[in-house]
Amino acid sequence: MSDQLDTLLSEQRRFSPASTFAADANGTPALYESAARDREAFWAEQAGTLEWIRPWDRVLDWTPPHAKWFVGGKLNVAANCLDRHLTGPLRNTAALVWEGEPGDRRVLTYWDLAREVRRAANALKQLGVRKGDRVAIYLPMVPEAAMAMLACARIGAVHSVIFGGFSAESVRDRVNDAKARVLITADGGYRRGQVVPLKRMADQAMAEAPSIEHCIVVQRRPGSPGDESFATMKEGRDHWWHRLLDSVSSESEPEAMDAEDLLFILYTSGTTGKPKGIVHTTGGYLTQVAATTKYVFDLKPADVFWCTADIGWVTGHSYVVYGPLANGATVFMYEGAPDWPERDRFWSLVETHGVTILYTAPTAIRAFMKWGTDHPARHDLSTLRLLGSVGEPINPEAWMWYQAHIGGGRCPIVDTWWQTETGGIMITPLPGVTTTKPGSATIPFPGIVAELVNDAGTVLPQGGGFLTLAAPWPGMLRTIYGDDARYQETYWSRFPGRYFAGDGAKVDEDGYWWILGRVDDVLNVAGHRIGTMEVESALVEHPAVAEAAVVGKSHDLKGQALAAFVTLKDSHQPSAGLKDDLKAHVAQKIGAIARPDDIFFSADLPKTRSGKIMRRLLKDIAEGRALGDTTTLADPAVVSRLKDTYESQEA
Ligand code: PRX
Repeated sequence: MSDQLDTLLSEQRRFSPASTFAADANGTPALYESAARDREAFWAEQAGTLEWIRPWDRVLDWTPPHAKWFVGGKLNVAANCLDRHLTGPLRNTAALVWEGEPGDRRVLTYWDLAREVRRAANALKQLGVRKGDRVAIYLPMVPEAAMAMLACARIGAVHSVIFGGFSAESVRDRVNDAKARVLITADGGYRRGQVVPLKRMADQAMAEAPSIEHCIVVQRRPGSPGDESFATMKEGRDHWWHRLLDSVSSESEPEAMDAEDLLFILYTSGTTGKPKGIVHTTGGYLTQVAATTKYVFDLKPADVFWCTADIGWVTGHSYVVYGPLANGATVFMYEGAPDWPERDRFWSLVETHGVTILYTAPTAIRAFMKWGTDHPARHDLSTLRLLGSVGEPINPEAWMWYQAHIGGGRCPIVDTWWQTETGGIMITPLPGVTTTKPGSATIPFPGIVAELVNDAGTVLPQGGGFLTLAAPWPGMLRTIYGDDARYQETYWSRFPGRYFAGDGAKVDEDGYWWILGRVDDVLNVAGHRIGTMEVESALVEHPAVAEAAVVGKSHDLKGQALAAFVTLKDSHQPSAGLKDDLKAHVAQKIGAIARPDDIFFSADLPKTRSGKIMRRLLKDIAEGRALGDTTTLADPAVVSRLKDTYESQEA
C-alpha cells in the first residue's frame, strides 16, 4: 500500500470542467451550498422529486446506529420507476435496450416494461407471494431480471438477487438465510459462447432449500421449447415465466409501501465465513439513487446510459435498474462477456446503440488497456459524453487511458466510491462542477459527511487514515438481515458514533479523497468483494486440507488475486493435481470468482502466540516483499521456512 500511496501522492494532473459541459450540467455548486446549509432539507428536496402516496411526517429519526428516513411517508418504487412516466412522452420511449451475447436484441418502451412488470407482479401474487415475502432472483443479464426486481417492488415482496456466477451452494445459503418462498431463474445464460446452466444449479440449491415453494423459469435459450437438457421442470413447483405471465391480467395496483419497508436484501462478503444480508429500504434508498443518477451521470432525455455491472451486484441494482428508471432514462443492458466474440464487443455495442454514458470498473479498463487501442479505435465512440468508474481504486494510468482512448479526451470521468452498504454513490465528482485528479474519487456528494480518522478515532483534516461516515444518509443499510448485533459490531463499534467503511484512504490538501482499498479481511478481486474467511472455510471442507489461510496479492488486471496457503492432513501429499483439485473445489463451493490464482502447500502457517494466523506476513511472502515484523510469532522460524518453500514452489 505504501508504493501505491507514493504514486498517488505524486499525481499532479488536474482536469477542470469544460465550460461547454458546465453550461448545461445538472449539477451545480449550489447543490453543495444548499446541502451544507441544511442537510436534511437537501435530502427532503431530493425526495420531493419522487411521487409519494402519502407525504412523510419527519425527514429523519436517528437513534444511532439506526436511521429512519422520511418517516410516515408511503410510496411504491415500481410506480416511481414506471407508472409515473406513462402519462407523458416517456410512455413510448425506450426504457430498456438489450443485447444478448449471441447478438439477439430487444427494446422495451416504458409502456412495454410497465406492462410486463404488472403481469409479473400478478404472477407472483398468483403463486401466493405477499408483501414482506422474500423472492430470490438468480438470472443472467436479461430484461426479465429488471422485470422481476420491479415486480417484487410493485407488490412489496423483498428481492434477494444472487449473482448468476455463484455456485449452487452459495445460492442455497442465501435462499435459506432469507427464507425465500420463490426462486426466479432461467434455463441458462450465455457467457463466452457457452450456456451457463442456471436452472440445473438452482435445482441443486432448491434440493436443500425447504422454504422454496415455487420456481419461475425464464426461457432464455432461443428455440429451446421441449429441450430439457438445461431445464427439467418439476411438476407443481416449477413454472415457465412466459406461460405464467400469459395466464394473468396486466392490471395491477402498486402496493403502498412505508418508506422504511424493506425493498431488498443483497448478500455481500464480510470478514467471517458467512455472507451478510445487507438490508435496504424503500424511500431513502430510492431518493439517493435517483439523486445521484441525475447529478453524477448528468442524465438527460437523449442519453443512452450503460452501466456494465451485473444485476447481481449493488451497482446493477442502483444504476442499471432503480436510479436510471426513476429518472426516466434509456438504459442499455448487455448479457455477456466483453471479449466475445472479439475483444471489441463493448465498443461495437457503444457504436451500435449510440451509448452516451458508460459506467464500468477499473478491472475492465485495465483489461482493455492490455488488449490494445486498436479495438476501440475501430469503432465510432463519438456518442460518448461521460465516463464513470466504480468498484475499486482506479490507478492514474488506467484513468488517463480511459479518458484518452474511450473518452476521446472530451468526456469527464466520474470515479465513484460507494459500497453495497451505502446503497448509492457517496464520494464522487459532479461533472461540470468538480475539477478531477486521476485516481481520486474527489469529494463527498452533497449531503454526505465523510471523515478521515486515525486509529484512535481522531478526525484528521488530511493525511492517511480510515474512511468513516459521520452522519446518516438516506440510502444507508438499515441492518444485516436477521443479525442486528452483527450490524452494530461490524460497522459502528470500531469508531463509536461513526460508520466505518473498512477502507483506508488519504485526503489531500484540497480535501480530495484517494481510496487505498480495504483494511479488513475483505478482498477486492476484479471489482468483486470476497471474504478471505469464506475461501478458507471452503478450502478446509476439502478432505485433504487441515488448515488454510487466504490473502490477496496485487494483480495487474484484477487489482487483487487470491493466494491460498494450505496445510495438508498427514494422509495427503502435495501435488500439482491436488492444487487444481483445490482450485476447482473452491469454484464449486462459492463460484468461479473465488477460484484462487495460487495455492501453496506449507507444513506450518505463521501464527501469533494466541494462535491467530498472521495474514500480513503471508501477504509479504505472496508479493515477494521483505518480511515484516515477526517478533509476535509463536515460532518465527516458520515464516522464513515458508518463504523459502514458497519461492521454490513458485519457481
Ligand atoms: O474498497 C471499496 C471498493 O469496493 C468496496 C465496496 O464493494 P462492494 O460493496 O462490492 O460495492 C462495489 C460497488 C459500489 C469499497 O469498500 N470501492 C468501490 N468503489 C471504489 C472503491 N475503491 C476505490 N475507488 C472507488 N471508486
